[in-house]
Amino acid sequence: MLRDKYCCEINEQDIGSSINIAGWANKWRDHGGVIFIDLRDRSGIVQVVFNPENNPEVHQVAHKVRNEFVLQIKGDVRRRPEGTENSSIPTGQVEIVAEELKILNDCKPLPFMIEDDTDASESLRYKHRYLDLRRPIIQRNIVIRHIAAKSIRDYLDSRGFLEIETPVLTKSTPEGARDYLVPSRTNPGQFFALPQSPQLFKQILMVSGLERYYQIVKCFRDEDLRADRQPEFTQVDMEMSFIDREDIIAVVEAMIKKVFTDTIGAETGIPFQRLTYQESMERFGCDKPDLRFSLELKNVGDIVKESSFKVFLDTISKGGIVKGINAKGLAGYSRKELDDLTKEVQGFGAKGLAWIKIKNGFESPIAKFFPEQALKAIAERFEAEEGDLLLFVADKEKVANDCLSRLRNELAKRLNLIQEGVYRFVWITDFPLFEWNDEEKRYEAMHHPFTSPMEDDIDDFLSVPGPELLTPDSKLSSLRAQAYDIVLNGYEIGGGSIRIHKKEVQDRMFQLLNITPEDASAKFGFLLEAFEYGAPPHGGIALGLDRLVMIITGAQSIRDVIAFPKTQKAICPLSNAPSEVDAKQLKELSIKLDLVE
Ligand code: AMO
Ligand code: AMP
Repeated sequence: MLRDKYCCEINEQDIGSSINIAGWANKWRDHGGVIFIDLRDRSGIVQVVFNPENNPEVHQVAHKVRNEFVLQIKGDVRRRPEGTENSSIPTGQVEIVAEELKILNDCKPLPFMIEDDTDASESLRYKHRYLDLRRPIIQRNIVIRHIAAKSIRDYLDSRGFLEIETPVLTKSTPEGARDYLVPSRTNPGQFFALPQSPQLFKQILMVSGLERYYQIVKCFRDEDLRADRQPEFTQVDMEMSFIDREDIIAVVEAMIKKVFTDTIGAETGIPFQRLTYQESMERFGCDKPDLRFSLELKNVGDIVKESSFKVFLDTISKGGIVKGINAKGLAGYSRKELDDLTKEVQGFGAKGLAWIKIKNGFESPIAKFFPEQALKAIAERFEAEEGDLLLFVADKEKVANDCLSRLRNELAKRLNLIQEGVYRFVWITDFPLFEWNDEEKRYEAMHHPFTSPMEDDIDDFLSVPGPELLTPDSKLSSLRAQAYDIVLNGYEIGGGSIRIHKKEVQDRMFQLLNITPEDASAKFGFLLEAFEYGAPPHGGIALGLDRLVMIITGAQSIRDVIAFPKTQKAICPLSNAPSEVDAKQLKELSIKLDLVE
């Protein structure tokens, strides 16, 4: 070993002893002849002193050191002279007086400084990700990710789960994103799909009698990227047999509690709060509400019917809704601020944003369309007080909810309502089984087609007419699924369901989704056939590990908790993937490129 200890393990008990350390020159400075080098390794930094009077030869070598040179140093640990202590680092009471210095490697001038607060662009950081990963903040994220993964493995092992690997070269799975495809050399013209999740295989493992499966597994989805989405990401994927929803919820809650304790020592009270999908949509306009603040939405359809404001009346007569939010204390907003906010909400898809200020009565361009008692009723519904600003969107239910839920998050930021270090979990349950796809004029499975209907809804599920008769407002839209999501601080960190395990229910599901038996058999035939050989009742869930770790570490993006992330355009600037391939490789794959615009 080139070192006796990591830098940050050195403390006051080492004073007086001689020690070997190794790492990178984090900072180099010459204070009138005496050279100070902060040596950094994974644990942190320790200060090393090179005094020309004590040791002129070593001091000479120290002169050659530059940032990020790789060094091995032998020296005596001493207490820092009074007044030079640094309480902001763990080794701030001590320093090393160098006796020997070996330069193990030099380093070119850096493209950016290795420090937490960097202004380097993301593309530069990712091109030199090995340097970016030296930044303590990113190292901490990587360490916490490791602790989280270990904590999960330990927990699931203690609960009898087996970690089982499933294929990466496989078939398309039904998670609903675009697939990444891999051509097969040995089967010209045929392609594997990288798994969007191990969904089909984990269900097969239940048919195989393995009872409790988990896997910390890469999943691949070719979708538009955001701060919480990557084309390849990691799931904590689980499946259990002979259980119901409550068993899965209990396992996951205890697991998450342990992960928060093991990683950052944070207490998460269990059981977590629950909301049905419907309640969540009504109160927060979305199925992943951030419950660190309230700012609840209110439907005012019944009150605005009393008005003569055409925009609202027309929306309601066309089956839409009028909903609003109380922007507490923002009645002071100027016309310009309101116009800017309106533009922002229009950017979310709203047609406009109507407002009423509670300011010496009701101040609003639309107040004239409302009888006084209607305005009072509105104020009452929002529990509005002097100084509040009420904001309204009238639109189709989906659009109004979506715009207002995004406005709600924006207002929480403006009103400084989001406390750091607060973790608000909520299970969203009773999701609709189906979702109407207006473009394709058909129903889709809201979770995936293996999700079981609620027991209470099974009769309706079996008796509704076939797909040819289904319209957006058919009975199908009111059926609920045994599906659940877990949401933390406004992020969906996991989702799962109790599965269908009976062939006739599964057949019916495909029928309603307009999937022909031939299609079903071509896509999922192996699972359907397996179901005919004694499939146990089963269910599961998958947690997004990247998102979970992002929240635990306080990172702004999942890219900051993934060692080698991809950019917004789904490329890796470090390795330059994806890239063109040799003509020879294409030939072996029997592929001729003819790129269409
Ligand atoms: P689902 O599609 O909800 O369920 O995915 C589970 C969780 O994975 C995370 N996630 C992502 N994280 C980062 N980047 C992405 N592109 C991305 N997509 C999803 C989310 C999400 O909640 N097979 C089912 C699970 C089941 O039914 O058991 C599934 O994959 O946190
Ligand atoms: P108008 O009559 O179009 O000038 O609109 C009057 C006010 O209503 C403006 O503040 C608009 O932003 C707002 N508005 C228009 N359409 C909608 C809508 N669909 N929902 C909420 N407010 C709207």
